Amino acid sequence: MAISCIKLCLVLLFFLASFTIPLDCFPDIHPKTTVALVVFGDSLFDPGNNDSIKTTTEFQANFPPYGESFFKYPTGRFCDGRVIPDFIAEYAKLNLIPPYLETHNHQLANGINFASGGAGALAETNTGLVIDLKMQLRNFKKVEKQLRMNLGKRGAQRVVSNAVYLFSIGSNDYLSPLTNNSSIFKLYSPQDYVAMVVGNITATFKEIYKKGGRKFGTLNLGPFRLFAET
Ligand SMILES: *[C@@H]1O[C@H](CO)[C@@H](O)[C@H](O)[C@H]1NC(C)=O
Ligand SMILES: *[C@@H]1O[C@H](CO)[C@@H](O)[C@H](O)[C@H]1NC(C)=O
Ligand SMILES: *[C@@H]1O[C@H](CO)[C@@H](O)[C@H](O)[C@H]1NC(C)=O
Ligand SMILES: *[C@@H]1O[C@H](CO)[C@@H](O)[C@H](O)[C@H]1NC(C)=O
Repeated sequence: MAISCIKLCLVLLFFLASFTIPLDCFPDIHPKTTVALVVFGDSLFDPGNNDSIKTTTEFQANFPPYGESFFKYPTGRFCDGRVIPDFIAEYAKLNLIPPYLETHNHQLANGINFASGGAGALAETNTGLVIDLKMQLRNFKKVEKQLRMNLGKRGAQRVVSNAVYLFSIGSNDYLSPLTNNSSIFKLYSPQDYVAMVVGNITATFKEIYKKGGRKFGTLNLGPFRLFAET
C-alpha cells in the first residue's frame, strides 16, 4: 500500500507539474487561478469532515494524540500528522485543502475535500456514520453549481476541467461486512460484490467526467482475502 501511495504521488506530481496552462486561451478570467485538488474518500484522506457529522462520534479523530506531530492538536485527521492529500497539496504549492463541512462558502479556490472516515462506495457501508461516496458526489455538485454562479459557465468549466480528482475509496466496503453483517457475502458472489463496489466508483467518475472533470487519481486498496474465509 505504502509503495503504491508513493507511486501515485509521483504520478500525480508529474501530472501537476504539467499544469502550466497557456493563459492567453482564457484572457478574461482569473489569470492566476491554479489547479484545484478535489478529494473524495475515506479515513486515509479525511481532513476533518468526520468531526462535523453529528449523528454519532464513533469514527472521529477529535482527541489526542491525533494531530500531535504536525498540527499539535487533533484536526479530525486519522493520523498523527498530515494525510496524503496534504502532502500532494504541498508539493503542488497549494494551501491545505479544507474539509467541505468546514468550508463556509464552499468555493473551490485551491480545492476542497469531501472525504469521510469510514466511508465506502456502497450506501450500505457504515450507514449513518459516514458521508458515503454518493453523498460526497452530491456535495461536489453543490460546489460546482456555486462555482457556476460565481464564475459563470465558462470560468467554472475551466476550474472543473483543470482540477485533479483524487480518490481513496473501497476498503471499507470490504471491511464493514466483517464487523457488521457478513451474511452479505452469502448474498453476493465475490465477483458480484466487487462489481458492485467498482460499479459505484465508476459511476462517480462518470458523473464528474460529465461535469467536465478530466484528471483522476486513485489509491490502490490493500490486498484482501475475505471471501476465502467466509
Ligand atoms: C469521524 O471520525 C472520528 C475519528 O475516528 C470518530 O471519532 C467520529 O465518531 C467520526 N464521526 C462519526 C459521525 O462517526
Ligand atoms: C449493516 O449491513 C446491512 C446489510 O448489508 C446494511 O443495510 C446496513 O446499512 C449496515 N449497517 C452499517 C452500520 O454498516
Ligand atoms: C444480516 O443481513 C441479512 C441479509 O441482508 C439479513 O437477513 C439479516 O437479518 C441481517 N442480520 C443482522 C443481525 O442484521
Ligand atoms: C451501487 O451499489 C448499489 C448498492 O448500494 C447497487 O444496488 C448498485 O447496483 C450499484 N451500482 C452499480 C452501477 O454497480
